[in-house]
Amino acid sequence: MTRIDLSALDHISGSISIVGSMNADYTVTTERLPQPGETLNGGPLQILPGGKSGNQAAVAARIGANVTMFGAVGSDANGDFLLGRLQDAGVDTSHVRHVGGASGTTVITVDAKGENTIIYSAGSNAKVDMDYVNSQKETLLASSVLGLCLESPMETVTATAKMCHDAGIKVLLNDSPFTAELPEELIRYADVLLVNEHEMAQLLGIGEPEDGDWLGSDWGAIAASMHEFGFKEAIVTLGGDGAVVIDADGSTHHVEAATVDAKDTTGCGDAFMGTLLAGLSSGLSIRDSASLAVYVAGYAATNYGAQASYGTGEEIKRFFGAE
Ligand SMILES: Nc1ncnc2c1ncn2[C@@H]1O[C@H](COP(=O)(O)OP(=O)(O)O)[C@@H](O)[C@H]1O
Ligand SMILES: [Mg+2]
Repeated sequence: MTRIDLSALDHISGSISIVGSMNADYTVTTERLPQPGETLNGGPLQILPGGKSGNQAAVAARIGANVTMFGAVGSDANGDFLLGRLQDAGVDTSHVRHVGGASGTTVITVDAKGENTIIYSAGSNAKVDMDYVNSQKETLLASSVLGLCLESPMETVTATAKMCHDAGIKVLLNDSPFTAELPEELIRYADVLLVNEHEMAQLLGIGEPEDGDWLGSDWGAIAASMHEFGFKEAIVTLGGDGAVVIDADGSTHHVEAATVDAKDTTGCGDAFMGTLLAGLSSGLSIRDSASLAVYVAGYAATNYGAQASYGTGEEIKRFFGAE
């Protein structure tokens, strides 16, 4: 077996700011999903730390990056729970805003076939406004890379992207939860876009391949549409088929997924994003960061949960036999 070079995990450095969401995920399993007006018995309630930005912060910190989280938690018990889990991962949560009321929450039901329904209640995530972000400007601008996703108010995401981009910070945008309605300014100030294949198809108005085989697609044409849309650099993740990096010059590069026995791919997209942030803050190219991200995200697929499934650099190297 070829030895995999994951030595980049020994050299993660630089500092990352993440502005965005933290959620407590309430999950109950049921035999089938309830009909309107119906009550069903479910399994034991699981409360797990989540929120895309929180997950992305956790993974980057676990593999050794200096990560500062900017966001808001409520005055409920979930606020302490969410901050505690991020601190366990090594994230600096001292700049998080504390507001009255509920923290961000999702209520999830999962049936026996794995089908789910999810309700997102933004709670304190809605209070990540520009007054707060401006009050954090000095710390925010001390980082080299910024991570954004779309569980926070769009005006805040857009204005934060502009503030950081103008100060020379590399801005990564994860268009997730997906919207095709991205403000023109956000497109302009985001340096790198991360999307999965379905999000990319909707964003660019491209049909899904009938056989589901994205690797056989015309990536030159996809890169051209992406540039025309306004993103110079982008990464499209393809689940078990890895990812494609679209470079500023229009060239594309496929990175194969890590070979793993996948148990639960929840949080894999966030693991990929967190690793990209960590790779870029360490001075790696986008391609090299993506090559690292498939291992970190692949490792996350071998364990249940999102934040609970993320490994440290040592754990990931050991798992893939790289040391
Ligand atoms: N079954 C799998 N085996 C190995 N790696 C996987 C698997 N599923 C996901 N991954 C890794 O996680 C990354 C993100 O997964 P993907 O499903 O594309 O994102 P999302 O969760 O946003 O849909 C992939 O690029 C890949 O590196
Ligand atoms: Mg996917």
